[in-house]
Amino acid sequence: MSDFIFRTVPTSVPVTPEMRAWQDAVRLGFGMSDGPDEAYDHWAVDVVADGYRLDAAYATPPALAPVAELEQPVATFASGAKTVNVGGGRLEPALFISEVTVRTTHRRRGLLKRLMLDALTRAKADGLALATLTASEGAIYGRFGFGISTEHRSVRLDTGPRLAWSREVEPRVVLTPAADSQAVREEVFARFHARTRGSHERPHFYAKSKTGVWEYDTDSAHRELRVAVHWDADGAPDGVLTYAVNESEQSVRVWDFVTAGAEAELALWQYLGSIDLVTGVVFRHLGPDSPLRWALADPRVLTTTGVEDYTWTRLLDVPGALQARGWDADGEARLEVIDPLGFAAGTWRVAASAGRAEVTRSTDAPLRVEARALGSLYFGLADARALAQAGQIHGPDDEVARLAALFRTDTAPYNLAAF
Ligand SMILES: CC(C)(COP(=O)(O)OP(=O)(O)OC[C@H]1O[C@@H](n2cnc3c(N)ncnc32)[C@H](O)[C@@H]1OP(=O)(O)O)[C@@H](O)C(=O)NCCC(=O)NCCS
Repeated sequence: MSDFIFRTVPTSVPVTPEMRAWQDAVRLGFGMSDGPDEAYDHWAVDVVADGYRLDAAYATPPALAPVAELEQPVATFASGAKTVNVGGGRLEPALFISEVTVRTTHRRRGLLKRLMLDALTRAKADGLALATLTASEGAIYGRFGFGISTEHRSVRLDTGPRLAWSREVEPRVVLTPAADSQAVREEVFARFHARTRGSHERPHFYAKSKTGVWEYDTDSAHRELRVAVHWDADGAPDGVLTYAVNESEQSVRVWDFVTAGAEAELALWQYLGSIDLVTGVVFRHLGPDSPLRWALADPRVLTTTGVEDYTWTRLLDVPGALQARGWDADGEARLEVIDPLGFAAGTWRVAASAGRAEVTRSTDAPLRVEARALGSLYFGLADARALAQAGQIHGPDDEVARLAALFRTDTAPYNLAAF
């Protein structure tokens, strides 16, 4: 690592040349082109609003390399604290990690490992019990103790003549200009976030991307966005749908769909199903407990087109994370957490009752649980029995079944934030 200088890039608005070079490195790492000036201006506002820390590695220049080489990071790593819903209506701060890149010419020399270990060590020292991220590739983060913790399901709803509803919902839906929709979206998202296990707080860029002001994927404003809001019987907003019609394909793409209850969700699906000149609707984040399928006269008009990992979570502090968690089952388990990086290592007794758990040190345990498995159990996504069959948990079947029952949740985790 002596060939590298590690630095934290100070953040500000307006964007500085150093920030710009950092963002250029991210774009290089993800195979994107350099952006227009506006993209850097938007990004600087977001990074400052989120309070993100931008870490970078710079290569010390070989004798004949141009000086500019030193000013371009060869690795980037962003992180900051935001909340996740850990069940029982509780929001817990976690380290959100994003914009992880290493330049092709410097890969597999341990740069990601160094930046990750530094960030996790700081986060633990700061008292954060959890770290979380989304992954571009599935094989990167398990070794760092992250396990898949939420998934997302992509669907297509055919809205042709076969679409009919087994139950019609009162259509309290009003269209609003996308540019004016952020306040209502924030209000509904806050309700969703507070009630949904596995929900991650949204970073600031959502305020721009869902209002059409700026879309990072295309480096441009998004003028096709339409927004429909659902109001509950008391006149409060409880659902916001953001979508765009693709005229040539006669389809609708849902860009955002946040609700604080099933009535709002069904009402907005029924609104989508009645848009004229369209034969299908696609959406990437149907909730695991969505009533949509069950409200269709012909359930086969709904097709799941993919299920993918969404967030990956790792525990930094086992008692802290498990005592913050909301527990839907009562029970007890003793487990040794295997964590080569050390953060979560230890032998613990977990005793849950009436929604809370007490976690204490234990001298022995019948179960050995890998850190990544604990990440997949945390929001209730994975069943401990499946993780044991997959070799991530070791111990007798009855103890594994006891662990599975202990971590069982009443609802599947659901997340609507990318970062
Ligand atoms: C993924 C990426 C950040 C890895 O950076 P890196 O500096 O090469 O990683 P490191 O050298 O620190 O690797 C640490 C370990 O992870 C392994 N690893 C790294 N990337 C991996 C990958 N894509 N798949 C499988 N294993 C990987 C390394 O082999 C190494 O294993 P070891 O400790 O057993 O030797 C880099 O390849 C990259 O920038 N890719 C493109 C952008 C991207 O996908 N970023 C991730 C966003 S979520």
